[in-house]
Amino acid sequence: MAKKVSALNSESPNSGSSMKSGIESTAGELQRPAAEILYADELRRLAKESATLPKPPGWQLTPQAVLDFVLGCEAKGLGPKFVGRRSFLERCVVSLATNRGLMLIGEPGTAKSYLSELLAAAISGDSTLTIQGSAGTTEDNIRYSWNYALLVSDGPSERSLVPAPLYTGMKLGKLVRFEEITRCPLEIQDVLLSVLSDRVMSIPEMDAEGKSLFARSGFNIIATANTRDRGVNEMSAALKRRFNFETVHPIAEIREEMALVSREANRHLARAGVPASIPDDLTEILVTTFRELRQGKTIDGKGIESPSTVLSTAEAVGTVCAAGMHAYYFSGGNMKPGHLVQYLIGSVLKDNPDDLNKVRHYFDNVVKRRKTGGWQDFYEARGELQ
Ligand SMILES: Nc1ncnc2c1ncn2[C@@H]1O[C@H](COP(=O)(O)OP(=O)(O)O)[C@@H](O)[C@H]1O
Ligand SMILES: [Mg+2]
Repeated sequence: MAKKVSALNSESPNSGSSMKSGIESTAGELQRPAAEILYADELRRLAKESATLPKPPGWQLTPQAVLDFVLGCEAKGLGPKFVGRRSFLERCVVSLATNRGLMLIGEPGTAKSYLSELLAAAISGDSTLTIQGSAGTTEDNIRYSWNYALLVSDGPSERSLVPAPLYTGMKLGKLVRFEEITRCPLEIQDVLLSVLSDRVMSIPEMDAEGKSLFARSGFNIIATANTRDRGVNEMSAALKRRFNFETVHPIAEIREEMALVSREANRHLARAGVPASIPDDLTEILVTTFRELRQGKTIDGKGIESPSTVLSTAEAVGTVCAAGMHAYYFSGGNMKPGHLVQYLIGSVLKDNPDDLNKVRHYFDNVVKRRKTGGWQDFYEARGELQ
């Protein structure tokens, strides 16, 4: 049965009551429900199991239960989610229980955001306290701002204060996600300095008793940063010292990547109302192509030129899914390698026209030599690479 969710946070003190009707919806109607909604049953079961066991203060689950949830565990009926090494994930979970934040760095599309969402859902039961870093992020987006009408009538008070994710996370003792932190200007990133070291936020506008917000246990920060964006806005050394850095690598095993792409693409298709699934041989062809182009060498060790665009696992999911949808709506559901080639162009050709030449070269030198039916059809469809 679909779970009832409240799409707007009805606890928010400043949400207008007139908006409340019509905001209740079921998980099935949402385009992309948050992890705590999608996996509410798993989290409820794990919380029950964790209730009497030792866990870090303010956490909903034990560190072991967090790990089982994120990686999935067949024996406990927990679906697979993030694919990665257990030892890496153990370090991430431990970092969040310490007095330093967790910084996930890596290439785009390696599931840094997804992992931070799963961790926040498991540890705090809420993955929505998220700050999206950009060149335009301001302190107001991070800490708090004011409702000016209430500020004029009541003065600075809890009622007139409009909380931003950092404020709410500290107040409720929850994890706060800071996405793409290195895209923010340095002085904005440094808003976190005192919060991470002293675990207190000063609110100078308020009178004496409300002046400082002390963080409840359970509060911490998970930040993500793309290694490709680094250098645009480096982090200050002071802020780096307050985070444990962990690198998220692309999936190591080709079989695991294929299984993930197939699972995710089929899930997306089902959510989009397409009652079809992607043939395994096509997933294999696309994942192999992406991996070989990404790594700059074929599975039998031959060197090839790698395009400058990131051909990530997330991109592979998107490409397979678009090809599947195209086949369903325009080709009577009969998915062929040609559909993959069409959408491959959109993944490769982003900003550098030379990337398309590298892919053509790959088709002429690698794809052409593979003799199985699927690869031959893939090669025959190369005309789409115009
Ligand atoms: N190791 C992985 N485990 C699970 N999903 C992955 C993994 N790598 C890539 N993905 C896919 O990528 C998507 C998430 O990408 P995202 O979190 O936005 O990446 P990033 O934030 O690193 O750019 C997932 O929904 C999933 O489809
Ligand atoms: Mg991301």
